[in-house]
Amino acid sequence: MTSKNIETTLIAAGRSKRYTLGSVNPVTQRASSLVFDSVAAKKHATAQRAHGELFYGRRGTLTHFAFQDAMVELEGGAGCVLYPCGAAAVSNAILSFVGAGDHVLMTGSVYEPTQDFCSHILSRMNVTTTYFDPLIGADIAGLIQPNTRVVFLESPGSITMEIQDIPAMVQAIRAVAPEMVIMIDNTWAAGVLFKALDFDIDISIQAGTKYIIGHSDYMLGTAVANERCWDQLREYSYLMGQMVDADTAYMASRGLRTLGIRLKQHEQSSIEVANWLAERPEVEVVNHPALPGCKGHEFYRRDFSGCNGLFSFVLKQRLSDKQLADYLDNFSHFSMAYSWGGYESLILANQPEELEAIRPAGGVDFSGTLIRLHIGLENVQDLIADLAKGFERIANAR
Ligand SMILES: Cc1ncc(COP(=O)(O)O)c(C=O)c1O
Repeated sequence: MTSKNIETTLIAAGRSKRYTLGSVNPVTQRASSLVFDSVAAKKHATAQRAHGELFYGRRGTLTHFAFQDAMVELEGGAGCVLYPCGAAAVSNAILSFVGAGDHVLMTGSVYEPTQDFCSHILSRMNVTTTYFDPLIGADIAGLIQPNTRVVFLESPGSITMEIQDIPAMVQAIRAVAPEMVIMIDNTWAAGVLFKALDFDIDISIQAGTKYIIGHSDYMLGTAVANERCWDQLREYSYLMGQMVDADTAYMASRGLRTLGIRLKQHEQSSIEVANWLAERPEVEVVNHPALPGCKGHEFYRRDFSGCNGLFSFVLKQRLSDKQLADYLDNFSHFSMAYSWGGYESLILANQPEELEAIRPAGGVDFSGTLIRLHIGLENVQDLIADLAKGFERIANAR
């Protein structure tokens, strides 16, 4: 039974007796072949293969079902497809709903490989993509073409962190195109902070690699769909061979148990660091959804139940190569890595022109260097002291 309180849901989700077989956690059932006791049992399994019966490894085992059920308890909807990584979840969700000659509307601050998928793969199928300003709001309706099949959202946007006015956008889209398939890369919210399906979005996609796994050691993608889109998403993803191994599914279920408490700590520490950065003379703006300086902050306050450890800030100056190297190479607690959502703190830098090159809908209205931080679970004062030393290095590396 789903509890109204998210912390309790995270502990209980997917732990039915069918999956735990007397232990606390779901069993790890590793299988390609699943053996039938009789012709009748094989017939039943075949008929019910898409509905939780053990059939063949690619349809999942008890370990997968436990995690999929948990994701549905968490995000709502009719079912959850598992993928080997977040990028596979994004590309397969889109591919499940577009065909030759169709059109996709995509947020302009979308994760870069999602754009690359559109320009390198969708374009070969004669599927065109239009990017829109993430702050477009209800005006998105004006971009819908007769062949638009999918609207793809991501909020906050990658790196620059704009929060979208999703209720206004969804309402405007449904008013002119009720059957539109609206999907969101909801990785930042981790299935907890923004309830996409409650906002009439059809499919909520996550790179489970980030907060669900939570320890930077497994890759996973999830897509939770509502009743309307579930059958097509499930069957088309299946036809495209999407599945994940049982050990990863097990680790994902395990990650859920601490997700709530981890997010709370990421939130508390990241807000503390963001407020400290906002007071620094070197900083132009802090793009932290919970701070008023972030674009769309008012929508964050209205639509999200909290935040996590990922945000960015823009320096007043554009760092030279030497400053950048001295700054980034010498942190004690921040490592450089392309990911986020694990227990550890991370840092990356982008020059404005690098961001402009991957922003088809503009929005890079700053000239200083942008720094993206993932605030991990270390002591926050240690992190602030580390960042303070970083500013000293910038000042000394002229
Ligand atoms: C917002 C977002 N979506 C999707 C992905 C892709 O996930 P994965 O690396 O698991 O393929 C990432 C990875 O960084 C991401 O940040």
